Amino acid sequence: MNEPGSEEASGYPAFDFGSRTVKLNSGYDMPILGLGMFSLTDSQAENSTYWALKAGFRLIDTARIYGNEDAVGRGLRRAIEEGIVTRDEVFITTKMWTSDFGNGDAAIDASLERLGVDYIDLMILHHSQPRNDVDAYLAMERAVEAGKLRSIGLSNYYDPEDFDRLVSAVSIKPALLQNETHPYHQSGLMKEHIAQYGTVLESWFPLGGRGNTQTLFSDPVISGIAGAHGVSSAQVIIRWHLQAGNICIPSSSNEQHIKEDYDVWSFELTEEEMAQMTALEKDRRFADY
Ligand SMILES: NC(=O)c1ccc[n+]([C@@H]2O[C@H](COP(=O)([O-])OP(=O)(O)OC[C@H]3O[C@@H](n4cnc5c(N)ncnc54)[C@H](OP(=O)(O)O)[C@@H]3O)[C@@H](O)[C@H]2O)c1
Repeated sequence: MNEPGSEEASGYPAFDFGSRTVKLNSGYDMPILGLGMFSLTDSQAENSTYWALKAGFRLIDTARIYGNEDAVGRGLRRAIEEGIVTRDEVFITTKMWTSDFGNGDAAIDASLERLGVDYIDLMILHHSQPRNDVDAYLAMERAVEAGKLRSIGLSNYYDPEDFDRLVSAVSIKPALLQNETHPYHQSGLMKEHIAQYGTVLESWFPLGGRGNTQTLFSDPVISGIAGAHGVSSAQVIIRWHLQAGNICIPSSSNEQHIKEDYDVWSFELTEEEMAQMTALEKDRRFADY
């Protein structure tokens, strides 16, 4: 990824569909479409990472609490050894779990060790925890200074005041906010709020999450748009996230699905289709945390 520039961004970051990246407020370029690792076993995470890189993905999203950082590291090394990618072409995100917030410096070193990399592209705090999330964020700032982390951000902050509480206590503006976001929960309020910091939104449960995908796939608006373009409902939803300006990280343990999820560059939703998708907002979350 590119070296950071010196300018401080403000305003919601624009997506570049040519390079398939967005410039974060940290100055680094981040791929706008990645593969997520939640609930994948070790062997699934290793294979999915490898298949993803082979299919063209350049962003992998894992977390300490998923227990598969080592496996992601193995999948990455397999792809590097086969000449599919170089380390600097791949953007790795991991997350600091709440029980590590009191011990952030050690948690960062442990993630680096498990992933087997000498820097992490993006680390985010996994969940708001007012008791000590500022301490954890300050540890990530020290790691940026030390060259261990490139960009830092947040996950699961659903209240603008809570987001501002953290931002006002730290120096580096969060590069990214990762929240549950899909057509039934579009995160409009938070997205508008974080734009003032140049923070970009990333969607988790982009397809509704395991066990819920059929609810979205069979929605008549989504399946109708899919039919019109000759693509799958999953592809329509992914394309909607990207056109709406949400970094999208679907998860899959199936190589065919992984290929399909990356094959979203040759069609475009029309303005009318985007408006139909926007109208699906139901303020409905699938997760209860
Ligand atoms: N920050 C947080 O608290 C948080 C919470 C949850 C998730 N996340 C992140 O967000 C990522 C995505 O969320 P998620 O995995 O929970 O949910 P998701 O991506 O919305 O849904 C995953 C489901 O979609 C299916 N799928 C994927 N592509 C498909 C396709 N082309 N056709 C049919 N089915 C398809 C998968 O099945 P197959 O395996 O059979 O393809 C799986 O059942 C996670 O992996 C994780 O990295 C973060």
